[in-house]
Amino acid sequence: MEKRELLYTGKAKSVFATPDSDYLIIEFRDDTSAFNGQKLEQLARKGKVNNIFNTYIMQRLEQAGIATHQVKQLSDTESLVRRLQMIPVECVVRNYAAGSLVKRLGVEEGLPLHPPTFELFLKSDALGDPMINEAHALAFGWATHEQLVRMQALSMQVNDVLANMFDAAGMMLVDFKLEFGLFHGEILLGDEFSPDGCRLWDKATRKKLDKDRFRQGLGGVVEAYEEVGHRLGIKFD
Ligand code: TMP
Repeated sequence: MEKRELLYTGKAKSVFATPDSDYLIIEFRDDTSAFNGQKLEQLARKGKVNNIFNTYIMQRLEQAGIATHQVKQLSDTESLVRRLQMIPVECVVRNYAAGSLVKRLGVEEGLPLHPPTFELFLKSDALGDPMINEAHALAFGWATHEQLVRMQALSMQVNDVLANMFDAAGMMLVDFKLEFGLFHGEILLGDEFSPDGCRLWDKATRKKLDKDRFRQGLGGVVEAYEEVGHRLGIKFD
C-alpha cells in the first residue's frame, strides 16, 4: 500500500495516510522518550526491533482471538494498520507493583498483585497522562460505560495471554499499557505492544528488560529488548 502524507508524529512513531482511508502506515522511529518527553534520545535499531516485536505480539493476540489494528509488517520499521478512532484513555494492567504505583501507594517494588490491577490514564501530553477513573471518562465523554467494560475485559485477556507467554520464556510481565480505538464500531487494540510500554523482568534475577533501562540510565536498552525477543523466538535480522 502506497505511503502518502505524514498525518501525525508521536514520541516514537510517525503515522502516514494511505490511498485507502481505512488504513494507515505507522513507522517506528529510533526516538526514545521518558518522563513525558523530558528525556529524549535516539537508540540505534530500536525502531526496527519494536516494529518486529510488536508485529509478533499482535499476531499472538490475534491467534488468541483478540482483534487488533495490525494488518501486516511492511518493512523493517513500517507496518500497515487499520485506522482507528482512538479512545483517549490508556489502560494499565499490573501484575506486580512498580513505577507510579510504588510512588503513589508507597508499596515495595515487586509486590505481587492478586488480582491484577486495572487503571485508567488520560492520554494527554500537556497534562502528563494523569490517572483518571470511570466517572471522569463518562463525565467528560472520553469513553462510554460499555467501551470501558470492553476495554477492561480485553486488557485482562491480553494479560492472560501475554503473562503466560512471557512466563514460559523465563520473564515476568510486571505491567503494561494498552490503547484501544474504534474501527467501524468495533473496539480494536491499537498503538503498540513493545518493551517501550510494558515492564518485563527476568524471572530468576529480576533484571529489568524494558524501558526502565532507559528511564533509569541502566544502558543496554535495545540489547535488552532484543534479548526479550530472542527468548520468545523472534528473529530481528
Ligand atoms: P506507570 O508505572 O508509569 O504508571 O506505568 C505503568 C506501565 O504502563 C509501564 O509499563 C509503562 C506503561 N505506560 C506507558 O507506556 N505510557 C503511559 O503513558 C503510561 C501512563 C504508562
